[in-house]
Amino acid sequence: MWNRRASIVILISGNGSNLQAIIDAISNKQINGYIACVISNNESAYGLERAKAANIKNIIVDHKNFPSREGFDKALLKKIEPFSPDIIVLAGFMRILSQTFIEKFEGKIINIHPSLLPKYPGLNTHDQAIKAKDKIHGVTVHYVNEHLDSGAICAQSILNIKTSNPVELEHEVHMLEYKIYPEVISWIARGDMRINNNKVTFLNKDIENEVIIFEDLR
Ligand code: GRF
Repeated sequence: MWNRRASIVILISGNGSNLQAIIDAISNKQINGYIACVISNNESAYGLERAKAANIKNIIVDHKNFPSREGFDKALLKKIEPFSPDIIVLAGFMRILSQTFIEKFEGKIINIHPSLLPKYPGLNTHDQAIKAKDKIHGVTVHYVNEHLDSGAICAQSILNIKTSNPVELEHEVHMLEYKIYPEVISWIARGDMRINNNKVTFLNKDIENEVIIFEDLR
């Protein structure tokens, strides 16, 4: 789509292991893009250290300094705008974004969620899957809208649940996350996937056949 590398802004709140997977996928040329900036709403997020170690510009916009979500989102927007991002990647970013923010960057914001959406939006997904005695679990990459974990789905990754320990299950899901998120970002950066009228469309038909990808049904 673009005759240039995609400009990517990544929003984090914590450990940043998905950020690391994306940094690695850019350095091994899986993704034709560059991380213009990493922004955290949490000053002690370990992901900031990962950004520094990779010489990536990093900024803290602490939500606690803003009395309203709109105020925080406005400040965030101001920080992001100068980078003219093609893709805004939420990687463990623990804030719900306002309508104004989403409209401003319409069709450009994606998120990764550790469940097979629409099952288990929100927190503690691994615990819920185990308690419900689900046989399968997994991860979803989706475009972001104004509702929690409910935008159009880009791709999902599935695994068989073979443990009753949520920490173990979380670890297994993380392993899937590190494959699927860079892959989907690479599709978008190449212009092979985009969102139109709330529908994900594929310009590369090979990808369409793969949308539920990385089935890891050991
Ligand atoms: C991941 O499990 C992701 O699915 C969820 O938040 C977690 C972030 O982990 N949205 P990390 O900060 O990337 O290590």
